[in-house]
Amino acid sequence: MNERLICGQVLSYAADPFAMPAAEAAQIDSAGAVLVRDGLIAAVGSAAALRADHPGAVVEDMGDALILPGFIDAHVHYPQTAIIASWGKRLIDWLNTYTFPEEMRFADPAYAAETAARYFDLTLAEGTTTMCSYCTIHPESVEAFFAEADRRGQRVAGGKTCMDRNAPEGLRDTAQSAYDDSKALIAKWHGRGRITYAVTPRFTPTSTEDQLAALGALWAEHPDCLMQTHLSEQLDEIAWVRALCPDQRDYLDTYEAHGLIGPGALFGHAIHLEDRERERLRDSGASMIHCPTSNTFIGSGLFDMAGLKAAGQIVGLATDTGGGSSFSMLRTMAAAYEVGQLRGTPLHAAQLLWLATEGSAQAMRMADRIGSLKPGMEADIIALDLASTPAIAQRAARAEDVWERVFATIMLGDDRAVRSVWIGGDKRRG
Ligand code: GUN
Ligand code: ZN
Repeated sequence: MNERLICGQVLSYAADPFAMPAAEAAQIDSAGAVLVRDGLIAAVGSAAALRADHPGAVVEDMGDALILPGFIDAHVHYPQTAIIASWGKRLIDWLNTYTFPEEMRFADPAYAAETAARYFDLTLAEGTTTMCSYCTIHPESVEAFFAEADRRGQRVAGGKTCMDRNAPEGLRDTAQSAYDDSKALIAKWHGRGRITYAVTPRFTPTSTEDQLAALGALWAEHPDCLMQTHLSEQLDEIAWVRALCPDQRDYLDTYEAHGLIGPGALFGHAIHLEDRERERLRDSGASMIHCPTSNTFIGSGLFDMAGLKAAGQIVGLATDTGGGSSFSMLRTMAAAYEVGQLRGTPLHAAQLLWLATEGSAQAMRMADRIGSLKPGMEADIIALDLASTPAIAQRAARAEDVWERVFATIMLGDDRAVRSVWIGGDKRRG
């Protein structure tokens, strides 16, 4: 039998660390191990006991590295890989100046394939094993993304970004072609390997009511797909939506009116919300995706993590590259911490790691397969070196407990901290 035993300091959660004191919800077993068999986690427990019970297992001793699920980036635009860190614009200008010209290039399947491969290489190095990505309006861009994910055996979600107004010539589809192309992509890719399709209207400013209605109908026909879009990221954007849709109660209503809400709906950003929107998001079972490096980089605002989690909302964490300024979920957790500080609510390291794993898995309705180290889960696992640079090592040496060490890596770490990555039980890095 092909068994692998990954030993180290194993992180697990008994509960959502926002629902009780974080350090009580989370556990770090300093001499733990994860047993992997046939791509799945077969057992989690003490290294000594698992070694004794499985003498034939290949042992990978990671020392005092932290063993945790691969990171899950719940909102990214892989086609924006090459324009990350573009200077000086806010949302609408940023889209027009940098994003749309770059997305135009994805009509070329070769460019799409090359970018997808580079994107997966970059994110593997950061320990990200699953992501929910926007593609461009070109079906070719979706083909490239899913083909690369399939080749690598990664669990991903993604979809064709639909836009039929307020976008340049060459980046517009129609209500009908958005429906037809998305439906054909669902038929080809949804459920193949580890792939999930996400119905993807970019946002209300670039989708007419007809298009939102068509995509609402499509999602209703394929309810086990996800649905992803943007909501209330910047104040100018919200004013624009109000002008475009004067009859709707608020921004969320422009989606809700067409059935684009409910479990499996991922709303990126969701910063400037009305009370009604918060209530509807929670009651419908939709999720919000916090993109902190993007929100500071594009100047969008401060997401209310503490308030929303206290109200029982489902929240995931994401880079939002290339509006976000890093491919790294560690840098993203650090930014989430800083946004929390600016709102007077610092997040515990256990909360930050949970958001980047199980929180994002919940948002993507995948928490029964990925995002935690439990028997039966898929073996997407990473090992983090908690002393990966001299700066981190000297801070970790002063730490009084393991959470202080983990926090130093969250605040100071990058791809150098990602020592090993396993996808479906196969070692891909380290
Ligand atoms: N709103 C609509 N499209 C986008 C995008 O590509 N990035 C960000 N950050 N916000 C958006
Ligand atoms: Zn986005």
